[in-house]
Amino acid sequence: MSTPAEIRAQAAMFVMQVADEGRSLDALLENRSDAPQERGLLRSLSYGSVRWYWRLLAVLKKLCSQSTEDLQPEVRALALVGLYQLLHTDIAAHAAVAETVEAARVLKLHRATGLLNAILRRCQRESELLSTGVDTQISARYAHPQWLVTQLQKDWPSRAEQILEANNQHPPFWLRVNARHHDRDQYRALLAAQGISSTVSEYAPEAVLLEQAVEVFSLPGFKEGWVSVQDAAAQLAAHLLATQPNQRVLDACAAPGGKTCHILELQPNITELVALDVSGERMKRVRGNLKRMELDASLIVGSAADPAAWWDGVPFDRILLDVPCSATGVIRRHPDIKLLRRAEDITHLSMRQADMLNKIWPLLVPGGRLVYASCSSLRIENAAVISAFLESHDDAQDITTEATARFGHVMASMNEPSLPGEQQVGWAIPAGTDGMDGFYYACLQKRG
Ligand SMILES: C[S@@+](CC[C@H](N)C(=O)[O-])C[C@H]1O[C@@H](n2cnc3c(N)ncnc32)[C@H](O)[C@@H]1O
Repeated sequence: MSTPAEIRAQAAMFVMQVADEGRSLDALLENRSDAPQERGLLRSLSYGSVRWYWRLLAVLKKLCSQSTEDLQPEVRALALVGLYQLLHTDIAAHAAVAETVEAARVLKLHRATGLLNAILRRCQRESELLSTGVDTQISARYAHPQWLVTQLQKDWPSRAEQILEANNQHPPFWLRVNARHHDRDQYRALLAAQGISSTVSEYAPEAVLLEQAVEVFSLPGFKEGWVSVQDAAAQLAAHLLATQPNQRVLDACAAPGGKTCHILELQPNITELVALDVSGERMKRVRGNLKRMELDASLIVGSAADPAAWWDGVPFDRILLDVPCSATGVIRRHPDIKLLRRAEDITHLSMRQADMLNKIWPLLVPGGRLVYASCSSLRIENAAVISAFLESHDDAQDITTEATARFGHVMASMNEPSLPGEQQVGWAIPAGTDGMDGFYYACLQKRG
């Protein structure tokens, strides 16, 4: 059993490892054997402190006579965990202060206890004044790095604040009902019989939103593949692909296989689904998901940017290119993205995305459809990639509007006006729309 101070000490170490060493918080919290109650507190302190990091740092700057850069990283992280408790939780202030100062002793930071005590007590006294002070800065108010705020404001002139706010919400728990076993209403009835309340998505026909998170193995038929965990926005990919019987399909960035399984659930009569991913390690998860769902695909470990190394020369009727991206559309699920991504990463990512699209396009049969997908909220990874691609490929046609006709009434209203020199292409879904992650889709058809 860990003490409350030890849990705070561990949370501070995680915050430091994310902020100063670039580690992933999910990975740090994976495979730990904490008791359930400790696990809950450790997760909420770690995720919360990381989610609000940029705001907490702004407050800390106001409370420190020295530069926060000069603080020992462990002390800075512990101060942020303390401030998180005082400003963003209902943990009793006296306990938050006492346990955080005690955590400094756990970490053998004896000389920092006085400083931490002073910082946290002043925050306790002046919390309203401090909050009002830092919140005049939009990057502090919504706890995002300045470069990302600037980019979102440029890309989403009328929706930036809505997106910034959505990025700080606790992520909802979406399920995808396996159409091979039940329709959505049948499965909701099974949930209701277990006392689990749910609602549905306006957009994704198999998507069910649980009112409260549950342990997945307690869901009816989870082991048997009746249902999977997947955000509703991600569930649109297989529908936009609109695979027909006897078609050959390529899922070009497949791992962990959520969309691979969905494509197969919706269209049992395809000739073959090739699931490609560059990571052999991540491909194991595709295999595991297919096994649980009792589905079949041909798995290839290889790069979408190097088809010569693995393609058998038989063209594909449908290609899903779900590119690696900044993941800025899923910040509410992975708040560490706000600390891990740098402005310069985005240009590099968009070049990789464009390269993959260019290399994979020749594998599509004339008349075939390619769906480009990303969970980025940034135009440079989305419309800019597609717009440049269309400029240089006469045989490519943007058919997103017709492919999304079923969602048409809402789709048109979501896109922002195009920027000078850039076409309005694809469907950019702002994070938080109908409870969905931020996503981007473009449906391209090869002229035949
Ligand atoms: C957004 S994830 C795909 C999610 C997946 N489609 C799903 O729904 O579960 C992007 C994937 O692209 C893979 N990837 C990155 N570079 C690649 C490349 N050059 N070729 C193929 N896959 C790549 C990554 O390993 C990662 O699994």
